[in-house]
Amino acid sequence: MQTISSLAELRRARTALTGTFGLVPTMGYLHRGHLSLVERAREECAHVGVSLFVNPTQFGPSEDLSRYPRDLERDLSLLAPLGVDLVWTPPPDEMYLPGFQTWVNVEQVSAPLEGKQRPGHFRGVATVVAKLFNAFSPDRAYFGQKDAQQVVVLRRMVRDLNFPVEIVTGPIVREPDGLALSSRNVYLNPAERAAATVLYRALTAAQAAFAAGERDADALRASVSAALAAEPLAREEYVSVAHPDSLAELESIGADGALLSLAVRMGKTRLIDNLLLRVP
Ligand code: PAJ
Repeated sequence: MQTISSLAELRRARTALTGTFGLVPTMGYLHRGHLSLVERAREECAHVGVSLFVNPTQFGPSEDLSRYPRDLERDLSLLAPLGVDLVWTPPPDEMYLPGFQTWVNVEQVSAPLEGKQRPGHFRGVATVVAKLFNAFSPDRAYFGQKDAQQVVVLRRMVRDLNFPVEIVTGPIVREPDGLALSSRNVYLNPAERAAATVLYRALTAAQAAFAAGERDADALRASVSAALAAEPLAREEYVSVAHPDSLAELESIGADGALLSLAVRMGKTRLIDNLLLRVP
């Protein structure tokens, strides 16, 4: 495993590798969710690259950039046994040169949900992922369904800008009690950690109603909101039943199914989760 910080050196190392190349972009502080994507890439590609970069441009002014958790040594020790070829740890001032002013803006699918709560977030994500694709020239890139809107935005970017990259999505990895793994879970105090199980409980209650035949989107949203309201430490930010590709809010669920997603504040920590509702 080569750990590289300069772009020029990364390009040299990448050029020396032939065969399919899989990229797993991350912001580090790795957990089993990230590692599941690395393992999948390892199974499907001749070579694997991982980027560890806390991307400043996807954080809003009032967000947690400075306190975002970091542990490079631990990340490298988790990646080494997995057969990763290249790890890129670009310095922020090399990723964004002085005078930087070129952005990738995926307009419509960036607007609702996370994009509405976090203005500029997906502009930062799409721009840095475009730069990662230019640096690594991957054949495939692996992303988690945990960030469902991110996947929709990046699939659109790849189509619109003709990146020769196949986007692969991995399932959400959860704790035994259902909480989706996230680097931000370390911010939760014990009471908030216990209360955080309400996200998955709320989603699965609505999923059960859907499986029993409920197709009215408002009824499903109300079922999720009621479950969240029953947990005093949780404050609902949004609950959405949207078309899985356009992300437009639905009135009723048709043949394409729906993305059921939510964002919740647990104290100072913002948590997101989602489920795909598939019509049998
Ligand atoms: P980060 O939050 O570090 O996540 C890196 C990848 O791991 C993303 O594709 C994310 O969806 C996936 N992931 C996170 N938690 C997961 C879980 N519990 N199960 C499965 N996959 C999970 O997402 C980003 O970084 C950034 O926006 C990035 C794409 C790297 C651009 O900066």
